[in-house]
Amino acid sequence: MRQCKTMSKATRKKIIAGNWKMNMTPSQARDLINMLKPACDTAESDVVFCVPYVDIPVALDMLKGSKISVGAQNVHCRDNGAYTGEISAPMLKELGVKYVIIGHSERRQFFAEADALVNMKIKKAMEHGLIPIVCVGETLEQRKQGITIDFVRTQTKIALMGIAPDDAKQIVIAYEPIWAIGTGENAKPEQAEEVCRAIRQVIGEMYDTNVAANMRIQYGGSVTAATAAELFNQPNIDGGLVGGASLKADFAEIVNYS
Ligand code: PGA
Repeated sequence: MRQCKTMSKATRKKIIAGNWKMNMTPSQARDLINMLKPACDTAESDVVFCVPYVDIPVALDMLKGSKISVGAQNVHCRDNGAYTGEISAPMLKELGVKYVIIGHSERRQFFAEADALVNMKIKKAMEHGLIPIVCVGETLEQRKQGITIDFVRTQTKIALMGIAPDDAKQIVIAYEPIWAIGTGENAKPEQAEEVCRAIRQVIGEMYDTNVAANMRIQYGGSVTAATAAELFNQPNIDGGLVGGASLKADFAEIVNYS
């Protein structure tokens, strides 16, 4: 805990990413980007639109020359091969994608992605120069049992297993309590801060204070324009991963929360 207090927060630029999930056809994506681009392009934080695969070309084209980056929502753990329906890191990289969400709870829940696979995907993404946004977070049941910190620590440790310090520094972790995703009930700022601080602490134990101080940790789960500032102003919260509200004009307010 001592090391967390001495870590400089000033060195970390906030990063706010919209996770569009399975929403927006390419033409709808065009309309949404037209609406959000002006306010997002002038934000102080790094801004990322994590769009469905088919919207990536539209997003990249429309955001060319802007400060807004494009992210994917998933990636396969191999370069190529007989994996029908999957998309690889080299494919995303060649298009110009910068970030990729890995291990979102919806992928863990509906597509049986386990921690070991998440680790493989992170390594593959980094091998090709993509920046992973790695999601961790507990269920309501785990929170009630009082095992949130233990669970999230373990998820974080397995996700980062075998990843070199210089690579780890680039990774973004998104703490997303599952009970807060899409429910309209965000974690209280103190709850989110407590877990984000614990994640930073485990990074410090795995690597060192330098890596821990540099790694950006987001909060995600029902973030709205009304709650963004109190969450993102916590000392260990470096921005957010935003689902529902990233599909609306609210996202422009969220990225300009301060
Ligand atoms: P939400 O989704 O903001 O709609 O709760 C967040 C996420 O799943 O990344």
